[in-house]
Amino acid sequence: MCGIIGYIGDKKASEILISGLSHLEYRGYDSSGVALCCDDKTYIYKAQGKLNNLVEVLKTKEDICSKATKGIGHIRWATHGLPTTLNAHPHTCNCKNFTLVHNGIIENYQELKEELLSYGCIFQSQTDTEVAAHLIAHEYGKTHDLLKAMQNAVKKIKGAFAFCAIHNNEPDKIVVAKRNAPLIIGVGEGENFIASDIPAIIEYTKKAIYLSDYQVGVVKKDSIQIYDDNGNLVINKVEHLPFEAMAISKMGYKHFMLKEIHEQSDVVRNVLSGKLIGHDNKINLDEFKLTQEKIKNITRVQIIACGTSLHAGLVGKYIIEKFANIPTDVEPSSEYIYRDTIADENTLVIGISQSGETADTITAIKQVKEKNAHIAIITNRADSTMARLADSLLPVNAGIEVSVAATKSYMAQLISLYMLAIYLMENKGITKFDNEIKKIKQELIELPNKIEALLENTDNIQKIAKKYSSYKDFIFIARGINFPSALEGALKLKEISYINATGYGAGELKHGPIAMLDENMPVLAILNSGIVYDKVLSNCEEARARQAKLIGVADYIADKDKDLFDDLIIIPPVCDLLSPALNIVVLQLLAYYIAEYLGKDVDQPRNLAKSVTVE
Ligand code: M6R
Repeated sequence: MCGIIGYIGDKKASEILISGLSHLEYRGYDSSGVALCCDDKTYIYKAQGKLNNLVEVLKTKEDICSKATKGIGHIRWATHGLPTTLNAHPHTCNCKNFTLVHNGIIENYQELKEELLSYGCIFQSQTDTEVAAHLIAHEYGKTHDLLKAMQNAVKKIKGAFAFCAIHNNEPDKIVVAKRNAPLIIGVGEGENFIASDIPAIIEYTKKAIYLSDYQVGVVKKDSIQIYDDNGNLVINKVEHLPFEAMAISKMGYKHFMLKEIHEQSDVVRNVLSGKLIGHDNKINLDEFKLTQEKIKNITRVQIIACGTSLHAGLVGKYIIEKFANIPTDVEPSSEYIYRDTIADENTLVIGISQSGETADTITAIKQVKEKNAHIAIITNRADSTMARLADSLLPVNAGIEVSVAATKSYMAQLISLYMLAIYLMENKGITKFDNEIKKIKQELIELPNKIEALLENTDNIQKIAKKYSSYKDFIFIARGINFPSALEGALKLKEISYINATGYGAGELKHGPIAMLDENMPVLAILNSGIVYDKVLSNCEEARARQAKLIGVADYIADKDKDLFDDLIIIPPVCDLLSPALNIVVLQLLAYYIAEYLGKDVDQPRNLAKSVTVE
């Protein structure tokens, strides 16, 4: 979603702002803008569409770009008002002395706008951000102090915000504030940075201060001062940023998505490292903070997540119920919020999120935290808002995921859920699965090699992708533990190729979706050699009888059954319970190559954002 960058120092601000915004592009956006300061004036440049359009505008402003050593920048993902140049940030006030960029949503913007209109404020855009700009500028009119103006204004604002503000009368500073939206201050020498996420500044500094909710900061080129909501000066720790600049390079791959798909074997090794040491040993999960006694008292598990993370949660339900014998519900966070959910101190709530910043999941977690449930967070961002809400933080350490379509983070979430399910089982003293678990642990250890084997030869998948890339609709079917694989495979395809793809439990096909089947609706069936093989095969027969083209994804297909399929993708042999971790690699590749044949913007699909920070 939206992204913020700010710079104050001696270097060319325009270059740092554009480079920072380019590293936030992956989050999804529809317009961009910068405000550059020199000679006590502020120059605002904006463009609709890709960041390159803004770069072209700046090429015509070389005089300003060469002089400006302070500036703020933004990429916008439209919430209030169309994705136009006018609505792009930065926004300003009547006298144009004050300039603001903003991430988040001002919930009471209508009310504030009416009040500001009565003071004579003139609005140019349809955005809620412009309301905040006029409000802070109005407060400046009373205080003549940018810090005080920000402190007063944020008290009147309801909603979520990360603000980065400048005023022509105070050229030595940038003032920042945040509530329920991330903002960090990158610490440099003789220069400082502001960003909504680490990739924007990682090439310049590895030291940063995380601003907390309700704090306001004054950033100068050689000092940073932070104030709490009572106006007291506070000291926030300077933290070491966890990423290498390398992590945001494509490393020779055509797209980040392809690179991230190929990183999945190492991702599995990372998650297993230190937790699974040989198939005879118990799972070691020091990050999980519930005592054995409390684990034995858990009466229910609730998994809350969105999108791909939700699909990982569905696999989690299957294995937690099977091994740990605890009833487990999985629900999209956006629905969980609006139910009177039942939870108490014996409830384990597992929040799953790649970004750790998904607004729906944060709200759901905050809501259930009040009921004293134990909150475990599985996230790729140990520095995120969600991580800070966790009683038990289970970081998946998949490395930064740049492609909007989640791949390696899903793999990391799956493996973490296997670890957690087995850990719960072992700590409850359940022994009846001991032999099966030994086999699964051994297969988990072998999994990275199998992923690598699969990735070594993708010719067949590429050929099938090309063959089916002109279809407009797709159905994915599976049963049991692979039902979520069907949902995730369909989500991947629609996200990056815009083909209408839907995942169904294979048994549900005959209860409605079968009506859509004909030669124009390919069916992709996931059939592993486990308990559901025969049943999914019957569902494939039903599809075939309606002339649907059939693609099978399986670790084994009996010779007698092979003719049923138009195309087959055979994965390395794997036990049924671990098969989602291999099947998904096939489905990710299929989606990738279809989108690539169609010439789509694979890493930044239209309308999508990497981190969805609005409810
Ligand atoms: O960061 P999160 O895992 O909380 O994000 C949840 C969804 O927004 C995310 O999984 C989304 O569905 C991705 N685009 C999937 O590829």
